[in-house]
Amino acid sequence: MEKYTFAQPPHPYWLASTSDADYPVLDRDIKVDAAIIGGGITGISCAYLLKKAGLSVAVLEADRLGQGATGHTTAKITSQHGLIYNKIKKQMGMEAAQQYAAANEQAIREIEAIIQEKEIDCDFSRQTAYVYTERDGYVQEIEEEAKLAQELGIEANFVTEIELPIKIKAAVSFGKQAQFHPRKYLLALAQDIHDDNSHIFIQSRVVDIDEEKNYLITTAAGKKVVAEKVIIASHYPCYNKAGLYFARLFPHRSYVVAIKAQEAYPGGMYITAEEPGRSFRSLPTEDGELIMIGGEHHKTGQGVDTRQHYQNLVAYAREVYPGAEILYRWSTQDYLTPDQIPYAGYFLPNTPNLFLATGFRRWGMTNSMVSAMIIRDLIVSGESPWQDLYNPSRQTIAASGKTFVVENLNVANQLIKGKLSAVPTDTELEAGEAKVIMIDGDKVGVYKDEKGTQHLVDTTCTHLGCELKWNAAEKSWDCPCHGSRFTYEGEIIEGPAVKPLRTVKGQTD
Ligand code: FES
Repeated sequence: MEKYTFAQPPHPYWLASTSDADYPVLDRDIKVDAAIIGGGITGISCAYLLKKAGLSVAVLEADRLGQGATGHTTAKITSQHGLIYNKIKKQMGMEAAQQYAAANEQAIREIEAIIQEKEIDCDFSRQTAYVYTERDGYVQEIEEEAKLAQELGIEANFVTEIELPIKIKAAVSFGKQAQFHPRKYLLALAQDIHDDNSHIFIQSRVVDIDEEKNYLITTAAGKKVVAEKVIIASHYPCYNKAGLYFARLFPHRSYVVAIKAQEAYPGGMYITAEEPGRSFRSLPTEDGELIMIGGEHHKTGQGVDTRQHYQNLVAYAREVYPGAEILYRWSTQDYLTPDQIPYAGYFLPNTPNLFLATGFRRWGMTNSMVSAMIIRDLIVSGESPWQDLYNPSRQTIAASGKTFVVENLNVANQLIKGKLSAVPTDTELEAGEAKVIMIDGDKVGVYKDEKGTQHLVDTTCTHLGCELKWNAAEKSWDCPCHGSRFTYEGEIIEGPAVKPLRTVKGQTD
């Protein structure tokens, strides 16, 4: 098989095709009705809806807007989240499945309504979404999903052919789903938020939240925000004082390539029912239509050499579309909950003014809007039709004990394995490579950059102490326990860690 060599580092189309939005860094103390931590699609959607409901808001983003999960998504706006409905029905009953369908279908309509009302140019288009299988073993499950989805009021059908050049056994289609350019949408929405009374601050990492009469939020620069309501929308909750969320959110990574094919794309959004997951959608660009092909998910810090995942996707893309030219590639991180339903609502049962939205699995476009609507409704009217299903403290989390225990055993194993694994003491490295070595009894991660400079960091995760693993495809140190990621210089890429890695002085030949 041809080994594809990537000339450029990973770069998502969403970031390549939009310029950066300039917002101030928080440089003074302020007071608002609601502070929203996180400037991705969840935080911006929450801020937009709350401001529209009459509250003054402040969005606090650690980096820049829409550069995390929102800038690395596949941006499918759909209520079809794999074969989810029969799973929900079995775990939680028909009413829960009904609520999930209603919430996510409403989210599609809400996003479309905002785009129309504000005339946002974000490549929004209605599409049919498919879950398909190439294996006989999944046909019955797909048939049952189509039947249940119809009962739930979704425009669903069981089909045995799709228009992709793939021979399938069966598929379930959902009509009137959608896709868009997530960053064009988010940046347009953000423009409506920032004014004299409401704010967006970038590069303003939150390092502490204290509960007094109101909440008191502190940024890394020591500036304070006083707010009656606080919404944590930082992908992984940045507030670690309670809730044990690190034990009930599990980080996964997945990969995307965007290709130029010789064949025209037939339309539609597709995903496999089976592993290895594969997904497709079109990508309208100024230079013509591209095709996005995604998949290869694995637990963060626990895959094979991460470059292999891109190689696998490229090989697959060229099998389906011979002669395909690879134009973009990127990867992303998602958090999963034990029962696959996100957490959106009160952070804890006894925190009526502290809210959380996270755990969207791989379906953040609709689930971010559902979460924003739930939190807006809880704040404005005290109730939401979907609050029980998405309740972060729901009883069904305890009931899904098997996943819960298995995942946390996995975390414990990673912690022990990382501490016990033997590492060499030599630092012989090629440019662009990294390894973990032993220096004075400590494990140290060494990365040699293209100029030959070595960057040394302590590979102990600053969250809860797991040993970090090198991610060769993204050139980052990733935590196999709860998904924190750091640059080779030790800066935080994503939490739950809120402190950078300790840098180590050593050989820098
Ligand atoms: Fe929790 Fe690293 S993210 S120990």
